[in-house]
Amino acid sequence: MERDVIIACDFKSKEELYEFLKPFKGMNPYLKIGMEMYFKEGPELVRELKKQGFKIFLDLKAHDIPNTVKAAMEKLGSLGVDITNVHAEGGIEMMKAAREGLNMTETGKKTKLIAVTVLTSINDDVLHNELLIDSNKTSADVVRKYALNAKEAGLDGVVCSALEASIIKEIGFMSVTPGIRLAGDSKDDQKRVATPAYAKELGSSYIVVGRSITKATDPVAAYKQCVKEFC
Ligand code: C5P
Repeated sequence: MERDVIIACDFKSKEELYEFLKPFKGMNPYLKIGMEMYFKEGPELVRELKKQGFKIFLDLKAHDIPNTVKAAMEKLGSLGVDITNVHAEGGIEMMKAAREGLNMTETGKKTKLIAVTVLTSINDDVLHNELLIDSNKTSADVVRKYALNAKEAGLDGVVCSALEASIIKEIGFMSVTPGIRLAGDSKDDQKRVATPAYAKELGSSYIVVGRSITKATDPVAAYKQCVKEFC
């Protein structure tokens, strides 16, 4: 199975992003563009980065009625990103509609579509007491069921914690896992973290690494360390 390190580009502006990317010249790492950058810079930034040869995971986590998601994904498909996502909570019909929307453009047909299962910021207390998920179901049960739904809807994989990657591997699906820290780095606000080496052992397909690379004194060295451990 394909394995790669995706850098989470959580920067305030494209100027900051380009400054960060300077020392990576010629390496073309896989980049994740999330809501903050996208809402500031718009689709133009994504087009620019694709032109420069970067692989892009556009992390916008769509979640709406099927018809709206389908129309949004048709527009997104024209950007030709490599991976994008929806929330599995939107249900099987919504996930199928998202795929159909992407398939409406030639570029979108090639975009991998993955589903967010349970956010790493949601613990069992929130799951049971706020979201009213049956108290005899753990987050691992929910992740497995949502991944099976995503598979049924024809998606390519899921976003989950590395600690759940083995569940996803068991069902023969792809996992994209954030919450990664190099040994010795601060966990920051992440609750359940894994090193790149441990994520590999657990069967992650792609790791998403933000602050362990972007805030490192030597980001290129930190990136290379992630690649060495994971790929
Ligand atoms: O800096 P750090 O490595 O914690 O960044 C992780 C990235 O992955 C952030 O962009 C965050 O939004 C994203 N993410 C996450 N947990 C999820 C889904 C996405 O941390 N469940």
